[in-house]
Amino acid sequence: MSTRILGIESSCDETAAAVVADGREILSSVVASQIDVHRKYGGVVPELASREHLRQIVPVVREALAQAGMKLADVDAIGVTQGPGLVGALLVGITYGKTLAHSLGKPLVPVNHLEGHVHAVFLEAHKAGRSAKLPTVCLIVSGGHTVLYEVKPGDSNAQDAGAKLLCDDAAGEAYDKVAKLLGLGYPGGPILDRLAEVSNGAPAPVKFGPTKMKGNALDFSFSGLKTAVLYHVRETAEYNDEIRKREEALARGERKFEQLFPLCGPKTLGLVREFQNAVVRDLVERTLSAAEQLSAESILVSGGVAANSQLRASFEARAKAAGLDVFFPSRALSTDNAAMIAAAAYSRLRNGILADVTLNADPSLALA
Ligand code: KG4
Ligand code: ZN
Repeated sequence: MSTRILGIESSCDETAAAVVADGREILSSVVASQIDVHRKYGGVVPELASREHLRQIVPVVREALAQAGMKLADVDAIGVTQGPGLVGALLVGITYGKTLAHSLGKPLVPVNHLEGHVHAVFLEAHKAGRSAKLPTVCLIVSGGHTVLYEVKPGDSNAQDAGAKLLCDDAAGEAYDKVAKLLGLGYPGGPILDRLAEVSNGAPAPVKFGPTKMKGNALDFSFSGLKTAVLYHVRETAEYNDEIRKREEALARGERKFEQLFPLCGPKTLGLVREFQNAVVRDLVERTLSAAEQLSAESILVSGGVAANSQLRASFEARAKAAGLDVFFPSRALSTDNAAMIAAAAYSRLRNGILADVTLNADPSLALA
C-alpha cells in the first residue's frame, strides 16, 4: 500500500493543495493563484493574501481530493508549509492542516517551503525516469529567495538528502521591481523573459558588469543591479514617454505581451536584455563555481525564476560543457505548488519528523 500525503501550501500568494503517493507520484495538484488580487499594488499585499487564502483553502483542498479520487479519510498524513513566508498567510494553511490532522487522527508533518522547491526537482526527475546524482548543488530562485544549497546523500536515497545553505538573496524580486519601474506590470518575470527573447540584438543602452562581492564569493547580489537599472532609467529622459504609455495601457487592463511589446522601443528592449543577461550570468556563474568547489555530480534549479527560458538554456549549455547533468522542474512545478510540499513531507514522515497542535508559523524558517 502506498502512503498518500495531502500537501497544503499557503506561504505567499498561491493557495495550493495536492495529493502525492510515496513522495513520487502526483495524484492531484491544485493551485489557486492570487495574482489578480495583488497586481494593482505591484506586489503581494500580506493582509489581502491572508484573506484570499481563507476564502480558497477549503475548496482547493476539496478539489485536490476529488481529482485524486479520494476522501479525507483515505489520506495517510498531512504535510503543511511551516515557513518561510508571510506569517498571516502561513497561519491559514497551518491552522487548516492542524485541524484536519487532529480530527482525522493522522500525522501532521511540518515542511520548509524551500525544501519543497528542492523536492519539486526530484518529482520532475522521477516523472522523466531520471535521477539526480548526489552530491548536487540546488539553486532555488523565486520571488523572495535566491538560495544555493548543497545536497548530499542522506541515509537511503535522494529523497532523504540533507541540504546545506550556501547563500541567500532575491532574483525574482529584481524582475518584479524592474518591470514595475519600466511600466510593465506584475509579476515581472514572464514579461521581461519574453521581451528579452525578442530584443533581436537591440544594442544595450548601458552595461551591467559582474557584481563583485566582498566575503562569500558565492553570494548573489541583485540589489546593486536593481539600483543600477533605477539610476540609468532616471538619468535617461528618453524612457519617460514610453513608460507613461505602458502605464496607461496597464491601467486599461492591457498587460499581455502582445499589447505591451508594441509600446517598447529598441532602447527598452536592449535594457531588458542587458538586465536579464546580468541576472542569468550571475546565477549561472555562481552556481557552477559552487558545483566545482563541492565536486558536485549534478545541478538542480527550482523556484519561479527557473521558468526563465534564457536561464534554462544557459544552464543547459554550461552544465553540458562541464560534464554535469542539470535538472529543472516543469514550469508548473517550478512556481509555488503543494505537490512539492507533499513530496517533502513524505521524506520527513519517514524520518519521524512530526508536529502536534502547537505547530506555529515560522516566517523566517531556515533550512536546517
Ligand atoms: O517560486 P515563486 O512562484 O514564488 C515564490 O516563492 O516567491 O516565484 C515567483 C517569482 C516572481 O518574482 C516572478 O517574477 C518570477 O518568479 N518568474 C520569472 C519567470 N516566471 C516567474 N522570472 C523570470 N522569468 C520567468 N519566466
Ligand atoms: Zn516558492
